[in-house]
Amino acid sequence: MHDLESTATALVAGGKGILAADESNKTMTKRMEAAGATSTPATRLRFRELLVTTPGTADAISGVILYEETLRQRASDASEFPRLLERLGMMPGIKVDTGVKPLAGAEGETVTEGLDGLRERLAAYRALGARFAKWRAVLSIGPDRPSRYCIAVNAHALARYAALCQEAGIVPVVEPEVLMDGDHTIERSEQATEETLRAVIAKLLDHRVALEGVVLKPNMVLAGYDCPRQPSVEEVAHRTLAVLRRVVPAAVPGVAFLSGGQTDDLACAHLNAMNATGNAPWELTFSYGRALQAAALTVWAGDEANAEQAQAVFDERVRCTAAARRGTYREAVMA
Ligand code: 13P
Repeated sequence: MHDLESTATALVAGGKGILAADESNKTMTKRMEAAGATSTPATRLRFRELLVTTPGTADAISGVILYEETLRQRASDASEFPRLLERLGMMPGIKVDTGVKPLAGAEGETVTEGLDGLRERLAAYRALGARFAKWRAVLSIGPDRPSRYCIAVNAHALARYAALCQEAGIVPVVEPEVLMDGDHTIERSEQATEETLRAVIAKLLDHRVALEGVVLKPNMVLAGYDCPRQPSVEEVAHRTLAVLRRVVPAAVPGVAFLSGGQTDDLACAHLNAMNATGNAPWELTFSYGRALQAAALTVWAGDEANAEQAQAVFDERVRCTAAARRGTYREAVMA
């Protein structure tokens, strides 16, 4: 337990957060092709190596979530990718869910799969160097969504996953994502996010998961993309913190938000506003995928000639996000 607690604490340590670079091959192929890059095991490795070897990254990134393909790849210097990360000063993590499937009897809702054989897979990932893991449950907002059934099924799976992780000495990053898709109001998002987090925390406790050895990765409370009333940065920060305070015990060392399709600037502005408020019982940090990587991928576009510029763009996103994590984002941008 001591190791789990110290790993979780290190993941959310002051000024630091997590880089989510664990896109499945299918998702990464879609993103690379949209940026004009070909997606192969070698090009996926190259882009991810380019990111993590950007000088200074470890000052702000405590850990990197990998897809299994990358966990097993060798970097250009022939070292195993997890060893490369360790040498650079970042902890290797691994996405362990196997994706979402339609939930039987619940039109338009999904359940995240991957529990079968998970104990054995976790042991193998631990041997390869993984110190933490991620499982993403996806909930959507609609007239009758998320249903209590969908929340319960996904909370149960997250708790089973988290308990197995802790048994294996791996810190579970527990990610219940309520999507921004739709025209719902921020009030509706607040309600759905609260109901979801309440169920997830209750299930974690039922399954004897030690909250001290967990990192929670929720969505921020936002209005749907298509909602005509888009809230201010302060309102998002206020509502998100209010939900977390009502539901998340102080024993959880840190909350590492996903960016979930927000613009890079808003993902930082919202995190910044929450940190500027101060006084939260948990560390408030990031576990961003798109908000850290998307700009660099566009610049790189699969062409080595752009590698240096892509690293510069990635470095800027990392610095801005780290500033938001400290509550000094605006000042950092102005500087
Ligand atoms: P985004 O920040 O792009 O939402 O990705 C975070 C993540 O890991 C989603 O599972």
